[in-house]
Amino acid sequence: MSSSDRLAATADENEIPSATGTWSILPSWLLNRRSVAVKRLGLPGPSAGEQDAILSAALTAPDHNALRPWRLVLCRPESRAQLADLFVAAKLALNPQASALELEREREKAERPPLLLALIAAPKTDARVPEAEQIASAGAALQSILIAAQALGYGAIILSGSRCQAEPVKAALGVAAGEYLLGFVSIGSIVDTPRLASRPALEDVLVHLGAAGLTPHE
Ligand SMILES: Cc1cc2nc3c(=O)[nH]c(=O)nc-3n(C[C@H](O)[C@H](O)[C@H](O)COP(=O)(O)O)c2cc1C
Repeated sequence: MSSSDRLAATADENEIPSATGTWSILPSWLLNRRSVAVKRLGLPGPSAGEQDAILSAALTAPDHNALRPWRLVLCRPESRAQLADLFVAAKLALNPQASALELEREREKAERPPLLLALIAAPKTDARVPEAEQIASAGAALQSILIAAQALGYGAIILSGSRCQAEPVKAALGVAAGEYLLGFVSIGSIVDTPRLASRPALEDVLVHLGAAGLTPHE
């Protein structure tokens, strides 16, 4: 199935009414972006060209002073069994009583996604660019990846979990001191469509600044 066919197949089911009235001027795949759980992802993953497009989208993230405060690790198929072992070991280190099902879910996080990317925030020392701005740049790269994947008709999600704090996992991915393993981005075909995401109302996140100070958005 081509990207446009895949998109056409998912566009209608994604249609939900807009609270803001902006639906008509932005594509529904953009406004209806939602994460798709790893268990709902399957083959095929993005083609080589689609993968390049998704990764290139990340490069558009705003980046004050061009510090390049983030990077990605593409976890190739041949790395997955070993990564799964590390995820399982991290789970057991935290909870030695973890059930077989919990451990299987850990393996699934490493082995199931057709495309798996680790996102690392790598803040640099720069007096003009606080660390928070640099982490925000990594977040922007993340959102660009998620949106690009969805635009091509794929499902995607980022998950961190305690595995991202585990030293053996960080070492395998080259995460240095002072850097953050933000999570693993999983991308693949949607084999089981999730429910639509519920979103906050605009007034929950937006106020107006006027001459008299702050007022709620109505
Ligand atoms: C950096 C980062 C790490 C995340 N890690 C987890 C996680 O470990 N487990 C989880 O359930 N959700 C995690 N989330 C949230 C999911 O990726 C997702 O946003 C959430 O399930 C809501 O779905 P939505 O994106 O459709 O709103 C994380 C989000 C971010 C930004």
